Amino acid sequence: MRARQGHLLSEWRALAAHAREMKSASLRGLFGSDHGRAGRMSLEAAGLYLDYSKHIATDETLRLLWALAEARGLRSETARMFGGEKINATEKRPVLHVALRERRDVGITVDGKDVMPGVRGVLAKMAAFSGAVRSGEWKGASGRRIRNVVNIGIGGSDLGPAMAYEALKPFSDRSLTVRFVSNVDGTHISEAIRDLDPAETLFVVASKTFTTQETMTNAETARDWVLRAFADRKAVARHFVAVSTNAKEVAAFGIDASNMFEFWDWVGGRYSMCSAIGLPVMIAIGADNFGMMLDGFHAMDRHFAEAPLERNMPVILGMLGVWYSNFLGAETHAVLAYDQYLARFAAHLQQVDMESNGKQTSRDGRRVKWNTGPVVWGEPGTNGQHAFYQLIHQGTRLVPADFIGFCRSRNPVGDHHDKLMSNFFAQTEALAFGKTKEEVVAEGVRRKDAPHRVFDGNRPTSTILADELTPFTLGALVALYEHKVFVQGVIWNIFSFDQWGVQLGKTLAGRILKELQSGDIVLDHDGSTAALLRRYLERRRKAPG
Ligand code: F6P
Repeated sequence: MRARQGHLLSEWRALAAHAREMKSASLRGLFGSDHGRAGRMSLEAAGLYLDYSKHIATDETLRLLWALAEARGLRSETARMFGGEKINATEKRPVLHVALRERRDVGITVDGKDVMPGVRGVLAKMAAFSGAVRSGEWKGASGRRIRNVVNIGIGGSDLGPAMAYEALKPFSDRSLTVRFVSNVDGTHISEAIRDLDPAETLFVVASKTFTTQETMTNAETARDWVLRAFADRKAVARHFVAVSTNAKEVAAFGIDASNMFEFWDWVGGRYSMCSAIGLPVMIAIGADNFGMMLDGFHAMDRHFAEAPLERNMPVILGMLGVWYSNFLGAETHAVLAYDQYLARFAAHLQQVDMESNGKQTSRDGRRVKWNTGPVVWGEPGTNGQHAFYQLIHQGTRLVPADFIGFCRSRNPVGDHHDKLMSNFFAQTEALAFGKTKEEVVAEGVRRKDAPHRVFDGNRPTSTILADELTPFTLGALVALYEHKVFVQGVIWNIFSFDQWGVQLGKTLAGRILKELQSGDIVLDHDGSTAALLRRYLERRRKAPG
């Protein structure tokens, strides 16, 4: 982390020195000597309660982290984002997902034009359309009502809405079947449509660019399937709508302009679930519930923009992530949601975080000399406890983790929820405080067997506890992580809103596809790739078995 003169920022150096002092700190010790710790290191915002006391951090650690955030200009960078400045510098675009959920009657100007009338107009169009699908007023080409909605998209045009649909299932119209197809593997679309009737199926083709290979291939397959049933191109207008920024390509595909839901280049794909990309979610849960989800996003946006750094939830999570990544050697970050409805939450966060902060070049074009975005991963609890928690408890790596849980279940069957939550609380306690050799021996374990059963503890966790998983809570939760990622991008001095790293593979795949289609390997591949291609070409012709 360098200041202008090429020296490490003094705030960075202070944290490095403090990290050396903290090597001997333990959570047992920190809690033992400070009874006010849990009360002080917790806060509530937008319906979420965060306890961050189980972190290897003291008041001094936090003071140094806030100082680093100030030195990196976090406050002014945040204001620049909310103000619509072109902070996505490599693509010369503003970053305005916060405008998509701006619920107040205010304007936000980009290049001298207020974007809010457009945002509100598209939301109104989405509401009218989803209402028509839900009521049966929107009919397929044969006059039958729509019973199945299939979203075709990938990355940000899939993960956010797929996650939200799963999370908000209790709020959805259960008479509608909603599916998400992303993979170019023909298995995905085949399995998604095999038991559906084209006469009752609506496809939402979601692609910011409308040129993404996977999405366009799946959309063409879906269009062929519909046309096989109707043999009339006019059927496309009743069975396909598009969500895109690219009106020209949408028209070229054959989708009527009136069936296109627009969004804008100042919305990043992975930050687009509040835009028209959320259309399948709105069809499933209705415009009112979708609006409540936007309210939750907005509440967290306001908290992030207005709360002081030291009482600011995304800043706290972001700076603690910096502390572990850059000063205590953590390589990964686990997100462990104790709610089956959040099964796809970690997958969505992976894109939000890793596509944003998986960068090696600083804003001034030089190679960074510090670690940037961590590997983000996770599974819903309690499943992970029976799979990978062993490593978190007793492995050699430091894995900071977020535990997300709810006080009330949407499915209060028997004592399931108390059992779920007893695990939730027990895990963070065990991770923090462990079990000493003396405690193990006192339980009657032979001294020589004891080392295998010792838990060192000192495994840091954040606990996010909300009353219930509702559209509002989900919005607040997603916005919390979006802003956390923003905070870290500012600290690491990288551009969080482009994704040039995905280009090379795409270009190479395009060239290799031509070779596979012609059966001729003409490019100068490395030995390994050439041999693999030859084997594929030779064997793909052979009948199975
Ligand atoms: O290849 C990565 C990416 O560009 C993501 O950033 C994006 O969310 C995804 O592809 C899909 O892009 P599109 O919405 O343009 O189809």
